Amino acid sequence: MNFEPETYMTTDDSSGLIIVAVDGYSSSGKSTMAKALARNVGYRYIDSGAMYRAVTLYALRNNMISSDRSVDTTRVAADLDQIRIDFILTSDGQHTTLNGEDVEKEIRSMHVSNHVSPIAAIPAVRHALVARQQQFGREKGIVMDGRDIGTTVFPDAELKIFVNASAETRAQRRFQELMAKGAEVNYEEVLANVVHRDHIDETREESPLRKADDAIVLDNSCMTEDEQNRWMLDRFNETISRRG
Ligand code: CDP
Repeated sequence: MNFEPETYMTTDDSSGLIIVAVDGYSSSGKSTMAKALARNVGYRYIDSGAMYRAVTLYALRNNMISSDRSVDTTRVAADLDQIRIDFILTSDGQHTTLNGEDVEKEIRSMHVSNHVSPIAAIPAVRHALVARQQQFGREKGIVMDGRDIGTTVFPDAELKIFVNASAETRAQRRFQELMAKGAEVNYEEVLANVVHRDHIDETREESPLRKADDAIVLDNSCMTEDEQNRWMLDRFNETISRRG
């Protein structure tokens, strides 16, 4: 990834467009909300987690992660220049590409989920992906979800949401999602993965998962998808009207 980290800057603040940062715990439904908001308001949606997943897939394919789960961080860092991640629109929605190959299905597998957090904790990986994410946001008009969007990627985002729900609720949602896709998984395995990733994401040194001071918190444990989408749209409209 040939992108130097840059201070977040906008090219045009008169457009009326804003940046929406949606952060939160694994499987909290933030992608669903972020995607729906982007669709509703005609903004671009970027799934930053998909980018960390794509780097993880690259590392797995190139034997940079051993069976005891230890990562050859030097090799991962050295190859970052050769990893190109993009998003394409398909009839089935937005898909992630890795060096031109559609890897959407593979990056959602439990195999990738089980290795992504250590990869996302590597500072060189974070620097490269944060720079790429900031590029996506240069023109504003974007909804991005992840772990550090409101704190590190876009600390000046006009609207920041932090989503949470109990670990059991989140694991249940992810379990249903994977089952619906025909994956062979069991609930206990998904719950363990959710809890494990939360722990690594919260305790890593480089931009850990943390609520930005000015983020609005949403616990969506007892909300339907429609309710959370409505809630999100209301926050968006409030932000736009406050800016007048
Ligand atoms: O499965 P889920 O939707 O919860 O996660 P994801 O958004 O696809 O992100 C996968 C992993 O990437 C997370 O567990 C984090 O370790 C990492 N990640 C990150 O460190 N920073 C981000 N901005 C987004 C994801």
